[in-house]
Amino acid sequence: MPSADLLGEQIHAILADSATTHGLARTLRAAAKEIELHRYHYASRRAWPNGWINDKPAKVQIGGGAHRIDGFFNIDLVPPADLLWDIREGIPLQDGSTAEIFSEHFLEHIDYPRSAKHYVREARRVLVPGGRIITGVPDAAFALNQYPGPLDATDETIDRWYSKRDCLRDVNTRLDLVNLVFRDQDDDPTYTPHLWAYDHEKLVQLFTEAGFTTVEPWTFDSTMANPKRRWGSVYVVATR
Ligand SMILES: C[S@@+](CC[C@H](N)C(=O)[O-])C[C@H]1O[C@@H](n2cnc3c(N)ncnc32)[C@H](O)[C@@H]1O
Repeated sequence: MPSADLLGEQIHAILADSATTHGLARTLRAAAKEIELHRYHYASRRAWPNGWINDKPAKVQIGGGAHRIDGFFNIDLVPPADLLWDIREGIPLQDGSTAEIFSEHFLEHIDYPRSAKHYVREARRVLVPGGRIITGVPDAAFALNQYPGPLDATDETIDRWYSKRDCLRDVNTRLDLVNLVFRDQDDDPTYTPHLWAYDHEKLVQLFTEAGFTTVEPWTFDSTMANPKRRWGSVYVVATR
């Protein structure tokens, strides 16, 4: 099988060449990132060749990044999670082995429909009967509702969501905010793009289609959720 590591080295050499065009560099940076994630994923996969861990953690957070939650087993693509795993490959837990899954500002980063629907089906598989999954995403309806104005509220959203980002100087109109919720493109490789946008209706449809019995709005709880996500997000809790 061709080596992903070798391909990674070749990509880095092309990226270091000042003659590489901007378009090719963008695509290769994305590929280089996927190669790094592939390496992390397969390092864990070697430890858990069946595709699931032995433990049965009662509560699991997916895609928490640096926002770890006490009492939760944290799974993410990159450190500092408890387990590095690419969720597009499935949830590394046994059938009916956890009571609660929490994720926020994660779902919009995986491709729809293939990975998003696979993730929701996997969540149902690993939850115990009556178990629940809480999901928060940027609320596309919130961004679209702000589009007609006034600009002040949009300014506040941009400030709250993007004030620490280099791209802030380029995101200053109401349509820029809509674009960001739908795409979130940034040449800084720290940030991954948004691949699909969600609102309450779409979340309900997604979990209902996968066989969850109820899907309700979730009341924001800052002892679990990242406080900076309160503004402009939509959360639901789906029960198996
Ligand atoms: C925008 S961050 C949100 C972090 C945190 N939930 C918060 O609200 O501050 C998205 C997180 O999802 C993780 N992520 C994206 N795609 C993933 C995948 N395929 N498998 C596991 N984690 C993923 C990223 O590594 C990142 O930590």
